[in-house]
Amino acid sequence: MRRLALLTLVAVFAVLITTTLSLGQEEAKTYVRAGHLLDVQSGELLADQAIIIINDRISEVGPASQIAVPDGAEVIDLSDTTVLPGLIDSHVHLTGDYRKHGYSAVGISVPREALTGAYFARITLEAGFTTVRNVGARAFTDVALRDAIAAGELPGPRILASGPALGITGGHCDVNLFPYEADITADGVADGPWAVRQQVRENVKYGADLIKFCATGGVLSKGTLIGSQQYTLEEMEALVDEAHTLGRKVAAHAHGTTGIKTAIRAGVDSIEHASLLDDEAIALAKEHGTTLVMDVYVTDFILTMGAEVGMLPESLEKEKQVGQRQRVSFRNAHGSGVKIAFGTDAAVYPHGDNGKQFAEMVEHGMTSTEAIQAATVVAAELLGMSDDVGALVPGRYADMIAVTGNPLEQIDVLESIPFVMKGGQVYKDKLER
Ligand code: ARG
Repeated sequence: MRRLALLTLVAVFAVLITTTLSLGQEEAKTYVRAGHLLDVQSGELLADQAIIIINDRISEVGPASQIAVPDGAEVIDLSDTTVLPGLIDSHVHLTGDYRKHGYSAVGISVPREALTGAYFARITLEAGFTTVRNVGARAFTDVALRDAIAAGELPGPRILASGPALGITGGHCDVNLFPYEADITADGVADGPWAVRQQVRENVKYGADLIKFCATGGVLSKGTLIGSQQYTLEEMEALVDEAHTLGRKVAAHAHGTTGIKTAIRAGVDSIEHASLLDDEAIALAKEHGTTLVMDVYVTDFILTMGAEVGMLPESLEKEKQVGQRQRVSFRNAHGSGVKIAFGTDAAVYPHGDNGKQFAEMVEHGMTSTEAIQAATVVAAELLGMSDDVGALVPGRYADMIAVTGNPLEQIDVLESIPFVMKGGQVYKDKLER
């Protein structure tokens, strides 16, 4: 009894102290004046807007003529720019280094990989990407990176992390570069419905926000075929069921048509790459509400730089088969109204070049507004973060970028972004004023 009384007393004190502290804390207010502001929800470009930020979130947005500068607010003048929400890349590997592929990447330790992630997180943020979904990393390096950034120890985007991607033995998500006697298997390899359930549980145990798995072969892996499905429908259904039961979404890497369709039928939330779509695959994605994340820029890098950065000759051959086909698939999918979220596979090509994909999306059928929506509203919805990011509206984080020029007329201004704010804090300001 005595013990209980003491514990209660301690708890009451703790509450008292924290409330006193938070009452005493000054609110940080910021007033941002925007020459133009892109309302990504309506697609409208609004002139002369003001944004009020309290601490890390937006409290008010509207015509500058109607919003006064609050007392004591810091004023940020973006009146010669267009302000947009911070961008979202739904498919990156921050802990991966684009300069190292195939056998040139095998000597990298897990701690070294984590440090690589810290380096590229800053570069990605400075490119205007304030939120990313990291879909595959060894040994939960992405979870550690997410947490260090969230703790304010490192500059970087908000991260949703998957941890190690699940895959079949010898599949795209395994490591197939070594001979039998080396006995090396990737972290996320699991075969059979119960083994995949267990692997999903383990990933969640160590901090995964979502589950990533490989549903077909891939370009960069050794010995896998683009067109071949990996995992049976039964395994995929078990994986998706387990992940959804634990409140996690599922992203499936899939290039080949059959694997894409099986993954959609199994209930995945997104198909990554989605290279070889046919009409039925597009119809299935529409019917199931599956989002496609199509990395339509990366092919240019692979075909021009791949050999130099260590990609296997077979990978270059496979890329020749999927690259242009994926762009055709993108045009068809977009034309039929399937949800497409912006995702680039940065790490295969240089982090920070994420924005180069916008022009490619516009070239293959999207309007500039739609391409920007893919990297804001649509991606936020896929990530399950629509209350926090993806639009400049009250209640969401003050994540924003500013560019000079009109991105709706000149989409490539998003390739080099001079002003980046995340959570009300300015991380980059190269604007001339
Ligand atoms: N990580 C992917 C893979 O190895 C990259 C595919 C890139 N090619 C493309 N056209 N999207 O399969």
